Amino acid sequence: MRKEKITKAVIPAAGLGTRFLPVTKASPKEMLPLVDKPLIQYVVEEAVAAGISQIIIITGRGKRAIEDHFDISFELEEILKQTGKEHYIPGLRRISDMADFCYIRQSQPQGLGHAILCAKHLIGDEPFAVLLGDDIVDHSTPALKQMIDVYERTPAPIIGIQRVDKSEVHQYGILDATPAIDDLYKINHLVEKPAVEDAPSDLAVIGRYILIPEIFDLLEKTKPGKNNEIQLTDALNDLTTLRTMYGYVIKGDRYDAGDKLGFLQATVKMGLKNPKLGGAFKQYLKKLAL
Ligand code: UTP
Repeated sequence: MRKEKITKAVIPAAGLGTRFLPVTKASPKEMLPLVDKPLIQYVVEEAVAAGISQIIIITGRGKRAIEDHFDISFELEEILKQTGKEHYIPGLRRISDMADFCYIRQSQPQGLGHAILCAKHLIGDEPFAVLLGDDIVDHSTPALKQMIDVYERTPAPIIGIQRVDKSEVHQYGILDATPAIDDLYKINHLVEKPAVEDAPSDLAVIGRYILIPEIFDLLEKTKPGKNNEIQLTDALNDLTTLRTMYGYVIKGDRYDAGDKLGFLQATVKMGLKNPKLGGAFKQYLKKLAL
């Protein structure tokens, strides 16, 4: 396979966020704050730290706040200047200067596979990354950087995975895979949300992918599956028949922040890690005498 530098990332953010209702009735879940930054900013920062310069966000109805967050807010900056709070401005500008942002609207939430297909014309003929905003991974080497480092040695489609408890396999895409080297597994097949007795392993797909443009042709041919959605897993299974594909065990603490409990856990972790708040927050948690 051609080896090319990966500079584009797709962040699908058009889902309905039903697991987080009612908060997601009128607000995008991607804008939920983890301490002082919205979830999607962590994901964009991870991508940028991995060398991505173009971020393609798939949005939908009610997701306008995402675009505003990564845009320059002249009005806010003007008010900050007039009220002697201009010291906030560089931090705000950093958010919009991080990368080139493009937005594509998915007119109906027809599934993750369909959301990624919406980016076809902006990706063109080069490998690209996909990051799901729900999955927050905390590690000194950002998750996508770990995967791009692997890709540079082994240029092939790579899916980010982590081991999960057997009791949780029914919530994930699970790999049927053969150990390759180190933390790499050669993928034979993917099974979407299997019952524990049908799970081929405990290697669960988490929301980081390095994909190649052929995935678009396969997604175009993919028939709607469960919930009438175009499932990325179906197209990935087709890709395994054409190309060698790997699963890479991502290092780091991973949180499913699109789930209420996962979000609370991520909040505690990031709160404790925060240089300004961590100490006081730790004292507070200790006082709760759990
Ligand atoms: P999820 O299933 O985790 O997100 O999809 P969701 O649909 O928003 O959440 P629940 O399950 O209803 O609570 C994984 C990712 O794919 C995006 C979501 O925004 C999320 O980041 N997605 C999903 C789309 O962009 N479009 C879709 O049609 C479906």
